[in-house]
Amino acid sequence: MKKILLMMTVLGLTFAFAGSVAPVNNALYQKECASCHFGYQPALLNKTSWEKVMENLSDHFGTDASLGKAEHDQILAYLISNAGSGKIAANNTSMRITESPKFIKEHREVPVRLIKQKEVGSLSNCSACHTLADQGNYSERAIKIPNYGRWE
Ligand code: HEC
Ligand code: HEC
Repeated sequence: MKKILLMMTVLGLTFAFAGSVAPVNNALYQKECASCHFGYQPALLNKTSWEKVMENLSDHFGTDASLGKAEHDQILAYLISNAGSGKIAANNTSMRITESPKFIKEHREVPVRLIKQKEVGSLSNCSACHTLADQGNYSERAIKIPNYGRWE
């Protein structure tokens, strides 16, 4: 019981920091949706965006990421019940996190050469710069851009 209370406190603190989202905690999602790219946390997109992503898996950004019905439905339920509403997820009608107005605003000062370099490739590759991205921590203190270093 004590352990559980402590966990909740830790999570509460994590949520209190700017630039943090709840980490992925679904094994099926991790297996099916984090093999080709970083496993984007559900809170990075809103419910509508996730529904669009999951409706179009056979033509997923130029690749086929289709799933069986059972897996599809389970992952969709996980994404929807943990979808974001504010911050990065707000006012986004696209299927991309990187096209959300807040995301674009946050990244507009990042030089294109640092994004296009082979160690990063594109802004979709969150974990190339956000060293604690897999923990849902996007705070500035945890940013380290390849061939550039810390962002301050
Ligand atoms: C077969 C490989 C593959 C699998 C499996 C896959 N994806 Fe993707 N995904 C891609 C590619 C390729 C892109 C485009 C990346 C880019 O533009 O750099 C992408 C992009 C995305 C983006 C947009 C990222 C951005 O730019 O903001 C989201 C969201 C996404 N995938 C979610 C998922 C989900 C959810 C699943 C599991 C149901 C999944 N992906 C499984 C290949 C895959
Ligand atoms: C090329 C490196 C790079 C990549 C790739 C990148 N970011 Fe960032 N990100 C930054 C930098 C630098 C900042 C700080 C910008 C500023 O404050 O001027 C930032 C800021 C942020 C913030 C705001 C943090 C805060 O303290 O409020 C979030 C959230 C974020 N990024 C999420 C993401 C996500 C999600 C992805 C992947 C879809 C991503 N980033 C990809 C470099 C990157």
